[in-house]
Amino acid sequence: MDKDCSMYIEHVESGKRKVTLSLTVNDRLVVRDVDPQMTLLHFLRDELKLFGTKEACGEGECGACTVIMNGKAVTSCIILAIEAEGAQITTVEGLAKDGKLSILQEEFVSQDALQCGFCTPGFLMSTRALLDSNADPSDEEIIETLSGNLCRCTGYIPILNAVKRTIERERKELGR
Ligand code: FES
Ligand code: FES
Repeated sequence: MDKDCSMYIEHVESGKRKVTLSLTVNDRLVVRDVDPQMTLLHFLRDELKLFGTKEACGEGECGACTVIMNGKAVTSCIILAIEAEGAQITTVEGLAKDGKLSILQEEFVSQDALQCGFCTPGFLMSTRALLDSNADPSDEEIIETLSGNLCRCTGYIPILNAVKRTIERERKELGR
């Protein structure tokens, strides 16, 4: 085990080295033995069956795999699962509460800000991270955030409108 992984317990199962990973995903503590080469994206999808986080480019370019890690939007396809040891992760499945969509999700629907929807979880998580750190971003700041996510079929104006309406509603309804 190298120095950086010294906090992990090492296992040998079927000849494959595994390390024990402990983190919080959508407010739930998760502990799993994982291949140290597994990405956070594949950990979420393959181990936890959280299929909302999507894989497209696999190279950190398109934003489809975006999740929030310790308050920041990250592309989970280029992060190893073991780099998330002890982290707080939120995926798109963590946005709705008690079966009710979040305001941000509702506004993506109301503004027709999606077509095929493949990119949508990434947009939701990028914008959620922005609004959590800045409840009243300028249009330029929103556009800068959206520029990290690629959409091939909706166009960005409805997405921008959905974020702006979310800001208004969160101010009125949540006092942000
Ligand atoms: S799949 Fe991760 S950035 Fe494209
Ligand atoms: S809605 Fe289809 S790629 Fe964005």
